[in-house]
Amino acid sequence: MLTLGIETSCDDTAAAVLKDNDILLSSVLSSQDQIHTRFGGVVPELASRRHLEAIVPIVQEALDRACVTLKEIDLIAVTQGPGLIGSLLVGFCYAKAISYVTSIPYIGIDHMAGHLLAAFLEEDKPEFPYIALIVSGGTSSIYLAQSHTSFSLLGRTRDDAAGEAFDKVAKLLGLPYPGGPRVSAEAMTGNSAAIKFPRAWLGRSLSCHGGHTSAGTSPVASDTLPSPTMEDESLDFSFSGLKTAVLNHCNQSRQKDLPLHIPDICASFQEAIVDVLVEKTLHAARQHTVQTIVLGGGVSANPRLRQSMLDRCRQENKALFAPRPSFCTDNGAMIALAGFYYSRQSAPGSYDQDVYSRSQI
Ligand code: KG4
Repeated sequence: MLTLGIETSCDDTAAAVLKDNDILLSSVLSSQDQIHTRFGGVVPELASRRHLEAIVPIVQEALDRACVTLKEIDLIAVTQGPGLIGSLLVGFCYAKAISYVTSIPYIGIDHMAGHLLAAFLEEDKPEFPYIALIVSGGTSSIYLAQSHTSFSLLGRTRDDAAGEAFDKVAKLLGLPYPGGPRVSAEAMTGNSAAIKFPRAWLGRSLSCHGGHTSAGTSPVASDTLPSPTMEDESLDFSFSGLKTAVLNHCNQSRQKDLPLHIPDICASFQEAIVDVLVEKTLHAARQHTVQTIVLGGGVSANPRLRQSMLDRCRQENKALFAPRPSFCTDNGAMIALAGFYYSRQSAPGSYDQDVYSRSQI
């Protein structure tokens, strides 16, 4: 079975051809980073216009590289949501149009399902059940995955997504968009202990090192790791306070005429995000007695997150599956793979279906 995957949820136009569920014949992507970098973030109107220009050549290139023609494709899988509506509409309407004229069935895929399954694009595949940490520019969520199409949301961000926090901090430090890779590159030469930025554990009965004990449901910020015996810790995230702490640090340094040490700020900020992502993911695995952890989403390309998660998984005897960075960021291959599995349990898409902006998983 040949599946053509199409992804246009944000600012990358991507397409891929997948044979069955494991032989990736092609995966191509047109990045819009150059267009958005001077605005410090994705401009939705510009993104959808660029998708319009790129969609036809990118899909053709995916077919050419796979050495197949459209007629040989058995299924078209396309991202239906969540994402920027204008961007989603380009890929979704294009997929429906080629489905209509060729009679190849199409299926709308939730972008999160793509990220949740991306680890299966690698040779070494995870086993169910697993806990998935999906962290990107639009989401930071923890899921329990029980099959290729069965996912339960355990926690999610209450404000900024992790990638959004990386991008916003990069912008306030004068680093170009997309900020995540730039912050992580600067962090390589910085000292992660230089500045004590807060970690929002959002715990209900969370006791922390340094004498802080908190009860109640209000967010708890700490600049240290939580005690390993935390019981009722929420699996939700909050990163907006951390972003404000970085802004305050920069303002205070400027007021005192102190130079900003960008690598130290980046390393300390990154460590604060990574600590929370790693500890909450492991906490979810303990809560659900799950031995396998899977990463997905653009932020999971971050080397410090991958290393820290690996170290903690080794300590707790868990298996970690982290797809290569090009499968962590948006791509057509993960949408094709999700299409393969969802098409086995759902009817093909109808032509009156529309895109949506919030994940349905
Ligand atoms: O999954 P993705 O390609 O697109 C969606 O948001 O759906 O993720 C993009 C996000 C951006 O916020 C980008 O800054 C972040 O992932 N990112 C990173 C790294 N590479 C990409 N964040 C931290 N470290 C990285 N190495």
